Amino acid sequence: MFFNLLPAFVSVVWASRISAAVVSGKASSFAGSTSTFQFPPTDVTATASLINSFFPDASEVDFAGPTPTGDEAESVATAPALSPVKGYFPLIRPNTSDKKGKAFDVVDSWANLSPMQSVKSFGLDNTTEQIPEGCKINQVFLLHRHGARYPTSGSSPATFAANVHSAAGNGTFIATGPLEFLNTWTYRLGAEILTPFGREQLFNMGVGFRVKYGDLLKNFTGLPVWRTTSEGEPVVPNQAILDLSTLNRAHADIRAGLHFAAGFFGVQSYQSSYYQVIGIEQDGFNNTLAPYDQCPNANNNISSLGGEATEAWTNVYLVDAQKRLIPFLPGFNLTINDVAAMQTLCPYETVALGYSAFCDLFTEEEWKGFAYGIDLDFWYGNGPGNPAVSAQGIGWVQELVSRLTQTQITTFDSTVNGTLVSSNITFPLYQPIYVDATHDTVISAILPAMNFTSLAAGGPLPLDHIPKNHTYKVREISPFASQLVGQVLSCPASDTPTHIRWLLNDGVLPQSGIKGCGDDPDGLCELETFIAGMKQRIKEVDFVFDCFANYTFSLANDTITNGQFPK
Ligand SMILES: *[C@@H]1O[C@H](CO)[C@@H](O)[C@H](O)[C@H]1NC(C)=O
Ligand SMILES: *[C@@H]1O[C@H](CO)[C@@H](O)[C@H](O)[C@H]1NC(C)=O
Ligand SMILES: *[C@@H]1O[C@H](CO)[C@@H](O)[C@H](O)[C@H]1NC(C)=O
Ligand SMILES: *[C@@H]1O[C@H](CO)[C@@H](O)[C@H](O)[C@H]1NC(C)=O
Ligand SMILES: *[C@@H]1O[C@H](CO)[C@@H](O)[C@H](O)[C@H]1NC(C)=O
Ligand SMILES: *[C@@H]1O[C@H](CO)[C@@H](O)[C@H](O)[C@H]1NC(C)=O
Ligand SMILES: *[C@@H]1O[C@H](CO)[C@@H](O)[C@H](O)[C@H]1NC(C)=O
Ligand SMILES: *[C@@H]1O[C@H](CO)[C@@H](O)[C@H](O)[C@H]1NC(C)=O
Ligand SMILES: *[C@@H]1O[C@H](CO)[C@@H](O)[C@H](O)[C@H]1NC(C)=O
Ligand SMILES: *[C@@H]1O[C@H](CO)[C@@H](O)[C@H](O)[C@H]1NC(C)=O
Ligand SMILES: *[C@@H]1O[C@H](CO)[C@@H](O)[C@H](O)[C@H]1NC(C)=O
Ligand SMILES: *[C@@H]1O[C@H](CO)[C@@H](O)[C@H](O)[C@H]1NC(C)=O
Repeated sequence: MFFNLLPAFVSVVWASRISAAVVSGKASSFAGSTSTFQFPPTDVTATASLINSFFPDASEVDFAGPTPTGDEAESVATAPALSPVKGYFPLIRPNTSDKKGKAFDVVDSWANLSPMQSVKSFGLDNTTEQIPEGCKINQVFLLHRHGARYPTSGSSPATFAANVHSAAGNGTFIATGPLEFLNTWTYRLGAEILTPFGREQLFNMGVGFRVKYGDLLKNFTGLPVWRTTSEGEPVVPNQAILDLSTLNRAHADIRAGLHFAAGFFGVQSYQSSYYQVIGIEQDGFNNTLAPYDQCPNANNNISSLGGEATEAWTNVYLVDAQKRLIPFLPGFNLTINDVAAMQTLCPYETVALGYSAFCDLFTEEEWKGFAYGIDLDFWYGNGPGNPAVSAQGIGWVQELVSRLTQTQITTFDSTVNGTLVSSNITFPLYQPIYVDATHDTVISAILPAMNFTSLAAGGPLPLDHIPKNHTYKVREISPFASQLVGQVLSCPASDTPTHIRWLLNDGVLPQSGIKGCGDDPDGLCELETFIAGMKQRIKEVDFVFDCFANYTFSLANDTITNGQFPK
């Protein structure tokens, strides 16, 4: 109890001092306590005058004179091949899965908590991200997820830490064997915001996008207008275009937008190189990048189908791990949810702290089970198996059609925000480069809304085993820093776009599910055909019914694969 009253940094010091006692079997009473730190400290603020007197004056800084800026890159068109995103410096991959001498990267099993790595193929093996021979890129769309962040507030890792801490306070917590580290473990994660590694991912994404598509900047007549969401951050309504100087702190999404821009434009100029539109992410607000706030069935027992599916599967795949670990925590009621939380701590600690001792507690099979549990959560909660999901994605599709046809939206019957899209300041209709930042569950909703049916071909997903040909992998759909890219092309090269194709984390998506697109080996669809298909999808998806109707739907009869209530 005494330790609870001390500031966190004190208990960290004490932790190392009393580790000798722990080795002899005595647990500390601070195990599981939350430690936190803020920099700069609240009583220290930067004072420009303190250092300014040492600055060289402007003429000295510019001594060498202006330097040539060089031309824009467009490596998707000019390079003979592109380098895939691979690896996750500076995170340490735990050794877990190397024990049997097999090549198994645990990071690949973290599903939506995996860092984005390029997907090799979604079935179109003979094409790549590079634009097809004979085509020219005229325009590009990017819809991306934020990079690695802390867990959402009140989620299982924090609850597990609280349980440990409570038992430690009661003096009933003694961890031994592989769990001995828990005696001195403290909970060092925050909530919601990007981790340093997550910032790196977004910055790198911005750099990568500039190298691949920077040449399209030449066709802007004004500054780019890019969008993100506020994620519950208090944003003054109507202040849609952010004055960056007012931004002191922000959640993952806002920062995602800013770090992307910092990578794309460079820190010296990004604040004056584009406008950042921040849609309000709050219950009841229309926002296509946070559509669940305008969809009641995204927040009730219909949306919990995903959690139910994961829970059913957890009681299959984690039972052995629970049995194995219980003996090492005498006096602690180690539930299966605690074990699942320990597994979840592995990715979260790794992307925040660089390394996690929890990773080594589980076998390769259990890691595959973990990934499948999240695949189930997305499939039944935020993907093709949930009846309110295409409805959530359709607002962004309406905006896409508006942008592709340069036609203002006039009917507001989904999550589109009429105020924002009616202004050519907040929703310009011709931009060579569009960038929207959003969440994992929004990307996973937009894909079925657009009818990328090949992603859903393996469904419905069983709750008691991983199917042999399992293809719906959240690691490929919504990892940290996930990217859905639309390339608008002219084939043959001209100033009039003729085709479009889509890449999900660098893998080309087949468009065979979209009416009329056919089976092009490069994933191309004629632009007019694609637009007609999207217009038909907008008619097919019943936003009002799927999001607002009071219907009964359960896992027992959930065989849908299109994210719509069966009619
Ligand atoms: C991982 O295992 C290899 C081979 O067993 C060993 O050389 C290496 O030091 C281990 N790394 C860590 C971080 O434990
Ligand atoms: C890719 O090309 C090879 C060689 O032309 C062909 O055998 C194969 O079927 C193609 N694969 C796909 C998926 O089109
Ligand atoms: C930019 O616009 C000009 C004039 O319309 C056109 O010639 C050029 O091809 C365009 N560039 C791209 C990359 O589309
Ligand atoms: C700790 O003690 C309190 C009060 O007796 C009890 O409610 C709580 O369940 C105990 N926690 C654990 C983890 O044993
Ligand atoms: C649309 O967005 C504007 C600007 O963020 C906001 O003030 C307004 O409340 C939003 N409207 C709806 C219906 O959500
Ligand atoms: C252990 O936890 C489970 C699940 O929460 C609960 O049903 C059970 O009663 C608990 N057992 C003890 C001994 O507290
Ligand atoms: C918000 O969306 C609803 C449909 O869900 C629509 O009726 C309303 O007009 C929209 N409001 C704005 C300002 O876009
Ligand atoms: C934006 O809209 C205003 C008012 O309708 C119009 O005067 C202006 O030309 C438009 N700007 C662009 C770039 O379309
Ligand atoms: C996966 O295998 C099952 C059972 O053999 C089959 O019904 C299903 O169509 C297959 N799915 C894919 C995507 O190949
Ligand atoms: C979407 O997919 C469904 C099922 O495969 C199909 O019936 C429908 O025609 C498709 N709609 C469009 C517009 O592609
Ligand atoms: C939905 O319908 C059920 C059964 O008809 C009813 O019990 C429930 O109160 C309704 N819920 C809402 C939110 O209207
Ligand atoms: C699903 O099953 C429930 C009963 O469990 C039933 O009430 C509901 O109508 C069924 N829904 C569909 C779409 O078949």
